[in-house]
Amino acid sequence: MLTIALPKGRILEEANNLMKKAGVIKEDIKEGRKLIIDCSDKNIRFILAKPQDVPTYVKYGVCDVGIVGKDVLLEEGEGVYELMDLKIGLCRLSLCGKPIPIFQQGEMVRIATKYPKSTGDYFRAKGQQVEVVKLNGSVELAPILGLSDYIVDIVSTGKTLKENGLVELEEIAQISSRLIANQATYNLKHNLIENLALKLERALPAE
Ligand code: PRP
Repeated sequence: MLTIALPKGRILEEANNLMKKAGVIKEDIKEGRKLIIDCSDKNIRFILAKPQDVPTYVKYGVCDVGIVGKDVLLEEGEGVYELMDLKIGLCRLSLCGKPIPIFQQGEMVRIATKYPKSTGDYFRAKGQQVEVVKLNGSVELAPILGLSDYIVDIVSTGKTLKENGLVELEEIAQISSRLIANQATYNLKHNLIENLALKLERALPAE
């Protein structure tokens, strides 16, 4: 039996469509109150988790594999295998803010984000010192209310930024969803996991 962790929210529909196309599932998986979902293939069951928790369920082996955004993996992805780029959930991790010039080297700025590790790593690598404030969502509020000078956040359609009078200033990383696996069960359930990976790979959108 394979237990697959899926992220609630924006990726779920695309993950569902990919798995259907791949023949992994026949019936749609939709977000609701039910968190553990059995499927007609008795060898597979799904759990629906907060995206940030998907790597944790996989790392601790209560799920064998998972689908999760690279943005989450950059923060929480230690201790799991990243098997495949699923080419869904495409977006960018970017520095955003009010339509003002980007800060200069040496200038001390505060950045609010759900991604403190990626933000710290990126600016440290550029030799820029920044103060990072961790928020858990709706980070666009921070520069509007004066909590921070900038934000680092996911930009997909750009609608959220636009509606809040903010702009994308610098792209930090291209993001897509990945198939991840528990390191121990990857060996123990190698055939099942490879079979799943192969089916998904065949269903990926053409380059
Ligand atoms: C993400 C992200 C932005 C928004 C970007 O938030 O943090 O707020 O989506 O998408 P867009 O460019 O298509 O407008 P999410 O919806 O995951 O919720 P959150 O703000 O509560 O984290």
